[in-house]
Amino acid sequence: MGEKGRSKGCVGWFLVVVILALVAGAVVITIKKRSESHDDGGDVGPPGAVQKKYADALSVAMQFFDVQKSGKLEGNKIEWRGDSAMDDGSQVKLDLSKGMYDAGDHIKFGFPMAFTASVLSWAILEYGDQMGVVNELDAAKGSLKWITDYLVEAHPSPNVLYIQVGDPNTDHGCWERPEAMKENRPLTQVNTSVPGTEVAAETAAALASASLVFKSSDPTYSSTLLQHAEQLFTFANKYRASYSESIPEVQTYYNSTGYGDELLWAAGWLYHATGDHTYLDFVAQNGDDFANFGSPTWFCWDNKLAGAQVLLSRVSFFGASGLSSSVQSSLQKYKSTAEAVMCGLLPKSPTVTTTKTDSGLLWVSEWNSLQHPVASAFLVTIYSDYLLTSKTGTISCDGKTFKASDLRKYAQSQADYVLGDNPSKMSYLVGYGDNYPQFVHHRGASIPADATTGCKDGFQYLDSTDPNPNVATGGLVGGPFLNETYIDSRNNTKQGEPTTYNSALIVGLLSGLVTSSSVVRSFK
Ligand SMILES: *[C@@H]1O[C@H](CO)[C@@H](O)[C@H](O)[C@H]1NC(C)=O
Ligand SMILES: *[C@@H]1O[C@H](CO)[C@@H](O)[C@H](O)[C@H]1NC(C)=O
Ligand SMILES: *[C@@H]1O[C@H](CO)[C@@H](O)[C@H](O)[C@H]1NC(C)=O
Ligand SMILES: *[C@@H]1O[C@H](CO)[C@@H](O)[C@H](O)[C@H]1NC(C)=O
Repeated sequence: MGEKGRSKGCVGWFLVVVILALVAGAVVITIKKRSESHDDGGDVGPPGAVQKKYADALSVAMQFFDVQKSGKLEGNKIEWRGDSAMDDGSQVKLDLSKGMYDAGDHIKFGFPMAFTASVLSWAILEYGDQMGVVNELDAAKGSLKWITDYLVEAHPSPNVLYIQVGDPNTDHGCWERPEAMKENRPLTQVNTSVPGTEVAAETAAALASASLVFKSSDPTYSSTLLQHAEQLFTFANKYRASYSESIPEVQTYYNSTGYGDELLWAAGWLYHATGDHTYLDFVAQNGDDFANFGSPTWFCWDNKLAGAQVLLSRVSFFGASGLSSSVQSSLQKYKSTAEAVMCGLLPKSPTVTTTKTDSGLLWVSEWNSLQHPVASAFLVTIYSDYLLTSKTGTISCDGKTFKASDLRKYAQSQADYVLGDNPSKMSYLVGYGDNYPQFVHHRGASIPADATTGCKDGFQYLDSTDPNPNVATGGLVGGPFLNETYIDSRNNTKQGEPTTYNSALIVGLLSGLVTSSSVVRSFK
């Protein structure tokens, strides 16, 4: 099983033709000040006409969350899934049965799971209106809550966070349905003597963003989420250490290359969730240390900088009035760097990255190659809507001007590639279109629902030359090689393993594209 090394290739290098010196404002755009005190997108308008292709793809993509749910399933719509992992957490009298399995295996890895929740929250906050138009909003909120219920339970006291359920070596030594698991499911925690800043901060980001999602529909739950988020941020910031150094075993799967990005990302979300200016002071004061101003980076489960830069640019676009000039000027640096990310992606930009396939797919790593184009296109979609709503109109890339519609067109090109507009004519979204992978690396999908297997005898289904008996609907597989080929083989984990965070990213992108353009709304 090639599952070791899933963590390879999240970050990569952002190769651009020309490196911009952006900090001092090489990208200058006029900020139209608005009267709202903080974080208000302003105008609320109805979404435009529904684009059927993206709406259909969104309804497929949403289903992978149901495929990945652990615990006692409620209203289960996936006929080959059932209850599983009901005793997770019982050894410490916690109910850690919910949450989602990470990928084709059955580990609950807290770091990427929290990222899944942060991205899904963001998608709902920006594009919940569009999800509502195509009847996916309740499902999106339900899937988010399935994770946040787990994360709250995993945080039993201010300075303790359970960050993993299951032993990857044991789990990967078995090939069985989640419903059939009988192995021990040990727990891993971070605490004051074994801290993990990035995983605690990412969990804070997840719970703060989710608190906004549930603010009007369930205020009690929302304030519970926010309380956990604030405690986790304090814990993360006060006991600074990378979980990859505190607990070296995690390096095999989700190695972290640093925690500064998660602190900024979490503080950005906490500002949006609370309106408390101390969080903006935090991002302003720590920007020079952590934000890599001027250097574009790839948004992914290990590196949240590009996401934090776009999220904080929202404040400059829509809520900067009343902030001190030092905070405003720091926020400008975040915004300039967000624009450097955009400029690194737009095909006609002088600073466009060279890391892409011949037909234009952003391509950074051989493992899970689609995570980068989809994550980047999600950010591009959001930024295009900020430009449109703020009426600031354009960005400038080394002197060349681009409009919101140029950004949106780029995001669509990446989505279209994923959905089948590519040299292999392959849809990499499982269950969408006529030609999608049949040998997805996924235990539950590969074993007939009525088979009884133990840990080892299930490997016959990994090795079988038959297609999967169950469709892992909505899974976004790893995707093509740089030469745009795809080997549809069940043991091909680099290309053929769908992950839960890939689903959050594609759900975010598709919900942004569901209508012709979107008016940015307040998060409140
Ligand atoms: C702190 O976490 C480590 C690593 O998970 C664990 O070994 C240790 O027992 C924990 N400390 C306490 C006091 O529970
Ligand atoms: C994990 O990341 C650190 C920091 O980038 C690096 O030094 C280390 O070699 C990585 N570990 C593995 C197993 O790749
Ligand atoms: C495409 O790239 C993969 C990975 O580098 C390689 O194994 C494969 O042989 C290449 N296929 C072709 C047709 O060049
Ligand atoms: C994976 O499966 C393919 C056929 O499906 C086989 O040709 C290949 O040898 C297998 N690779 C490994 C590493 O088991």
